[in-house]
Amino acid sequence: MVIGDILSDWTNLSFANVATTSPAAHNASLAWSDALARGGAAEFDGEAEKNGMLPLRQATSRLLSCGIEDVCVGSSATELLCSIAWAVWPEKGSNVVSTRSSFPSTVYPWSRVAESSGAEIRLAEHDSNLYTNPKDILELIDESTSVVTLSHIEFSNGQRYDIEKFAKAAHSVGAILVIDATQSMGMFPIDAPSCGADVIVSSGYKWLRGTYGAAVGYISPSVRSNLNPGLVGFRSHADIWDLRADRMELPEDASKFEYTTIHFGAALGLAAAVEEICEIGIEEVWKHDLILAEAVVNGANHLGIGVVSPMSAEERSAIVSLRLPDGISSEVVAKRLQDEYSILVTSRSGFLRVSPHIDNSVEQVYSLISALEEILN
Ligand SMILES: Cc1ncc(COP(=O)(O)O)c(C=O)c1O
Repeated sequence: MVIGDILSDWTNLSFANVATTSPAAHNASLAWSDALARGGAAEFDGEAEKNGMLPLRQATSRLLSCGIEDVCVGSSATELLCSIAWAVWPEKGSNVVSTRSSFPSTVYPWSRVAESSGAEIRLAEHDSNLYTNPKDILELIDESTSVVTLSHIEFSNGQRYDIEKFAKAAHSVGAILVIDATQSMGMFPIDAPSCGADVIVSSGYKWLRGTYGAAVGYISPSVRSNLNPGLVGFRSHADIWDLRADRMELPEDASKFEYTTIHFGAALGLAAAVEEICEIGIEEVWKHDLILAEAVVNGANHLGIGVVSPMSAEERSAIVSLRLPDGISSEVVAKRLQDEYSILVTSRSGFLRVSPHIDNSVEQVYSLISALEEILN
């Protein structure tokens, strides 16, 4: 299923790193930039700025099966996570549970707040494949836990966690579950209201196929009213154009986390990309991505290359990480694939990470496998 027709010499099999932007997103973003360059506020006026996040909120609510009032827009996943961590402010005596294999931005916002508040950070250990046993995470949760925060799909090896299971565990001790879905949203179906997560955040430039500069957050109605965002600005006030510095009344919906201007073109582009995924159907996308992942696994097996990603139906994803034979550097191989074959994969944590998506075909995976065979020989 190739849905874009971008003129490109590259085969991008690395959506866990950076998407080759969806053509629809690219065009929408360019159109906005052109308009601004042409006419400034004459072409992007106050009303347009006020409504600038709405298309992305709308598209995301469709993708996550939630209300538009549950969704907010930011510039990056990290920014939203930071604002949320300061809003939650886990106190001294409480703890925040996550994993050592998490992407740093999933954990750092909490570490920073804990540095000031005195809360404890507890990270579950992993094995040599960077696999974290879910039991080890559950065992860290106790009556003092205030937050459980997980990368839905781990960036390094594609391990996927069961959100419902961790939501139940967190809620059973009065904690909240914060999910960084940057490596899953747009690849794996998420039903936000029924999965039990209190917060779900995703960057826009990976599986959602937007460009840099836009991200989305789901803030469940159950936690929203208690959260006072860590980042605020003129847009934090409910009526954004009633500009007075002597008071700030936050909106009641998730847009309370939107606080200032952003690259609106990136957000409008991301809205188009998310709509595209909704049109295909996220279940179809997941099916397609799994077929590609399976082709990577089969190809690796054929070449005798070890797969470190979990393979069970419950834990796998479209990220497949390979352990190359001893003495062969994943960095060197990734560079040779790029330089000599125009194939993009990523070297992460010593593994060769392959992460195909809807723009890719099985034939492209076969090309990767035959290029790998040539390089390894
Ligand atoms: C799990 C995860 N979270 C967050 C990020 C960073 O997102 P952003 O650049 O939007 O802050 C990444 C980037 O690789 C990631 O893999």
